[in-house]
Amino acid sequence: MISLNVDLDDRSYPILIGKNLLEKEGLLQQYITGNSALIVTNETVAPLYLDYVVNSLKNLRIKTLVLPDGEQYKNQDTLNSIYDCLLSNRFDRNTTLIALGGGVIGDITGFAAASYQRGVHFIQIPTTLLAQVDSSVGGKTGINHPMGKNMIGAFYQPKAVIADTETLKTLEDRELSSGIAEVIKYGLIRDIEFLEWLETNIDKLLNRNTVALAYAIDRSCKNKAEIVAADEKESGQRALLNLGHTFGHAIETGMGYGNWLHGEAVASGMIMAARLSEILGNISSDDVNRIIDIIERAQLPVRAPEKLSASKFIELMSIDKKVSDGILKLVLFKSVGQAIVTSDYTQEALIEAINSSY
Ligand code: NAD
Ligand code: GLY
Repeated sequence: MISLNVDLDDRSYPILIGKNLLEKEGLLQQYITGNSALIVTNETVAPLYLDYVVNSLKNLRIKTLVLPDGEQYKNQDTLNSIYDCLLSNRFDRNTTLIALGGGVIGDITGFAAASYQRGVHFIQIPTTLLAQVDSSVGGKTGINHPMGKNMIGAFYQPKAVIADTETLKTLEDRELSSGIAEVIKYGLIRDIEFLEWLETNIDKLLNRNTVALAYAIDRSCKNKAEIVAADEKESGQRALLNLGHTFGHAIETGMGYGNWLHGEAVASGMIMAARLSEILGNISSDDVNRIIDIIERAQLPVRAPEKLSASKFIELMSIDKKVSDGILKLVLFKSVGQAIVTSDYTQEALIEAINSSY
């Protein structure tokens, strides 16, 4: 088992990565402080893994809540159903919410934990690659609004992240690729050696080679833990983790939540960011092709959806958490392997970049 630490003083917590961790008696239990827990999962993950988690816990009052599956349910109604369950079962402030699932379950359960009775304990058990390399770490929690992705939420750190790599065996290929998009992101924004490793080993990840997957999860989490420890609430470098996300969120919202997977939208968005960076003279066309190549090899989309015109993109992108005093900052490339956050681009360049992405 690999053990990493997210270093946040008295809110520090471990990320445990390994095989068959769900079945390990005592592993999850050690992070539960009260005598009750609510496990929140969804209808796809529950039949696969819920029993392992329930059976690993002893001498606790445990309830389970099985939510509908899908990005389109990461909303206020589903959040309310978690509050309903907590209240009707008289869960108190010392209870622990356990998120068992992908990023949707992790984000919504985390926000329920942040807000129920002004905050209860929270543990992440991510079961998708995307959640194991990104969403379960760092404490961003929240839901979507019909007008904008992840627009309602809170920073709220878990007590532990337990990533059982065996769960990735049941993941659909498309979901695996979606997770690889966020893995590639770390290479592109700050870890050129990791990008080079991915360029050599991408097929191993797609073939679910367990050693390669464990390495990619470990290296991704190390990158993320370092950034979060330095800038928990995104006043600086944490924004780099949003490479491709402003474009990507516009795609997810504009195409209807759930139609493009998060990683697919981010992949296409990272290429749009690369095209804008080329127009601004930061990187060369060879660099752009290198970025397209690794994304294409990961079986991710490399083109923006034609259904969203440049003006629609710009309208959707104006609702983004990187808008400050009316100015939208974007994460762009300084070079391949080094991203920057900047508002130093023109509207014309942005339109040209979008138009060259279809
Ligand atoms: P998801 O949660 O929708 O999971 C993808 C699909 O895989 C779902 O159908 C799910 O039921 C299924 N699934 C989960 N585990 C499985 C398993 N082991 N075997 C088989 N099927 C399984 O999507 P995701 O890609 O995990 O997460 C995307 C979400 O994460 C988005 O809402 C995105 O905004 C959010 N996100 C949050 C952060 C953050 O920092 N909080 C970072 C990145 C993404
Ligand atoms: N996924 C972006 C972040 O955690 O900051």
